[in-house]
Amino acid sequence: MVSFTSILTAGLLATTALAVPHNMHMHRDLHKMQKRTSTKRGAAYNDVSTVTTLAETGTISWAYNWVFTTDTGLPSGVEYVPMLWGTSFFSGWLSAIETILSSGSDYIMGFNEPDMASQADMTPSEAAGYYMQYITPFSGSAKLISPAVTSSSTDGQGLSWFEEFMTDCSSCNITGLAVHWYGDSVDDLKTFVEDAVSTASNYGLEEVWVTEFALNADISGVADQSTTAEFVTEAVAWLDAQSGVTRYSYFMCADNYLLTDGALNSVGSAYTSTSI
Ligand SMILES: *[C@@H]1O[C@H](CO)[C@@H](O)[C@H](O)[C@H]1NC(C)=O
Repeated sequence: MVSFTSILTAGLLATTALAVPHNMHMHRDLHKMQKRTSTKRGAAYNDVSTVTTLAETGTISWAYNWVFTTDTGLPSGVEYVPMLWGTSFFSGWLSAIETILSSGSDYIMGFNEPDMASQADMTPSEAAGYYMQYITPFSGSAKLISPAVTSSSTDGQGLSWFEEFMTDCSSCNITGLAVHWYGDSVDDLKTFVEDAVSTASNYGLEEVWVTEFALNADISGVADQSTTAEFVTEAVAWLDAQSGVTRYSYFMCADNYLLTDGALNSVGSAYTSTSI
């Protein structure tokens, strides 16, 4: 769901955040260490300052920005997870990924919605070949998350794309399945995530990550904050209770989504109001 424009802007915005004085980071870190207990909840972001705001609640443990950024400016204690979005990002990958892993990232995320023509757009066998070439070589230094598939139930998309991919990538050393969900109710989210968890367990995968989720009405920004806050409250409580789901991130950590004018709005408060 993320445009190339927002992906490319992300790098620039991340750089500006480095201007924050060191002692401010220290102050926030102390605050966070006292409060943070959730290990699942993350931030999907383009602008790192929005993650800083979200992380002040002490309930955010990881973040990603659909790309691989060597100098993120994230508050310390929030793990940055690099993603290899798709073929257009291959050229810089090998020179950056080792630096990122040595900076404290424990995971690598695979391609973004390869089951969609408008996104990474790969057949399962193409994706398996690329995965083996670009991501599997790092299985000694990171845990490897699958390409993130959509919640489409059309044959050849979503979990059925993933199943085909896994027949070609059974020796890719993948340890987790990533999925995205867009739909109209929290019950639909639960049904889809339960399917994802059972699919993952068929391949012996330890983890399911829900790396984008939102109501269809909110894809271009939250349409009605009270409806969405209610959805997010129930979704987060349920996701926290699922042992098969090890990480999740709402779409997205940005103004007009979890924030309004740079501050948490009621949706952002709902997303960060509980910790497990
Ligand atoms: C997968 O992981 C195992 C165990 O760490 C390792 O021996 C093997 O070389 C890896 N496979 C590939 C294709 O890198």
